[in-house]
Amino acid sequence: MAREQWTSKLGFILAAAGSAVGLGNIWRFSYVVGTEGGAAFILIYLAIVFLIGYPLLTTEIAIGRVTQRNPVGAFKKLAEGTPWWLVGALGVLTGFVILSFYSVIAGWSVAYTVKALQGFSADADFVGMFVGHITHPTIPIYWHFGFMLVNILIIGAGVVNGIQRVAKTMMPLLFILLLGLVVRGLTLPGSGAGVAFMLTPDLSEVTGQTFLRAIGQAFFTLSLGMGALITYGSYLSRKDNVADSAAWVVGLDTGIALIAGLAIFPTLFALNIPPDSGVGLAFMVLPSAFSVMPGGIVFGTMFFALLSVAALTSSISLLEVVVAWITDEKGWPRWKASFILGGLIFLLGVPAVMGYSTLSHINIAGMDILDTYDFLASDIFLPLGGLLTAIFAAHVWKTKNAVSEINDPKGKIVFGGWYGPLVGVVIPVAVGVVMIYGLYSKFFL
Ligand code: PFF
Repeated sequence: MAREQWTSKLGFILAAAGSAVGLGNIWRFSYVVGTEGGAAFILIYLAIVFLIGYPLLTTEIAIGRVTQRNPVGAFKKLAEGTPWWLVGALGVLTGFVILSFYSVIAGWSVAYTVKALQGFSADADFVGMFVGHITHPTIPIYWHFGFMLVNILIIGAGVVNGIQRVAKTMMPLLFILLLGLVVRGLTLPGSGAGVAFMLTPDLSEVTGQTFLRAIGQAFFTLSLGMGALITYGSYLSRKDNVADSAAWVVGLDTGIALIAGLAIFPTLFALNIPPDSGVGLAFMVLPSAFSVMPGGIVFGTMFFALLSVAALTSSISLLEVVVAWITDEKGWPRWKASFILGGLIFLLGVPAVMGYSTLSHINIAGMDILDTYDFLASDIFLPLGGLLTAIFAAHVWKTKNAVSEINDPKGKIVFGGWYGPLVGVVIPVAVGVVMIYGLYSKFFL
């Protein structure tokens, strides 16, 4: 069977942006910015997105397009008979772990869509509501199950066109709603402190761990370091310009994260909720905003519904990595791969759910089970995958080949001689140093 292909450059940009824009931009961005101290973290994050994220995102897409393979197959094809395919395998493993907890959070957001439809009353205790939801011993497991099932059905059907179509209608809607929430947040009395929190850096708060968290967040939000973009790039036509498409994906993803921050932090400060309350932040803050907003039921329902859809366009890309690997490499039929691997991912997520209820006594270096999955996958596996991919592209595949794949076939040069030193030396060294120092300061300082 011929490999499916995006129908246009726009189709690819929207699908890749659909993968990038998700819970990472709203749920994860806001809680990590909140716990890492605000503006200083945002600055470091932005620098990493442009100096490391953009070149690497472009590189991943190019590796996918030139090989037309899943991550394992792509490394095998470019470096036959070497152990480099292990980098692809690390990516598949990372996809497995990320999806297992991503689906849990996505399940919370689907559950909140239903709560929003019933209306949030202004005097409700939103912290208590959230804690009540996640600590219930069974309900969040059902939502996690339902969300995984939808993923399995979509990926099983192999709807590259379905992915494209969903992304095309849902992304603009999410954007407009977020803008509405920004206006609402900024007009609440006391919201200025939230804007200041995002704009006034306090460098005294910055530690090695801040850099590690910023790298982890940048990689997570860009879907980088695990071959998702290699996989999506493998469905990209040779006619399309990689550097331009990648710039769009990075720009959309970053813009939406910042807008989400502007929707959340002003509201948070206006309502006196501490910004460092962790994973529940968006789920505790936004309902209180909707509860006092005219048309709150409509906006609240739409918001959580769209958040769930944004999560879905990202989660299918995670499952696609895992499924593309086993269908390409082992020749499994798509349906079988989706059901079996999706089922295993569901099972791996169950302890992450139970970490808030039945297994809440388990604590690993100050983290619950879901945090541990997230830390391991996002702050260690993703940067490590990115670091190795960078070394691979510049030194094994070679700068000359990478650059010629990235630049426009019609001759427009975007990536030049700086690619080799940046991707082959600066990025691996920077990411490596931050990882070592960040881990050291997390566990030993
Ligand atoms: N980028 C997604 C988000 O920000 O929600 C999460 C993600 C999707 C990470 C796909 C990694 C990935 F391969």
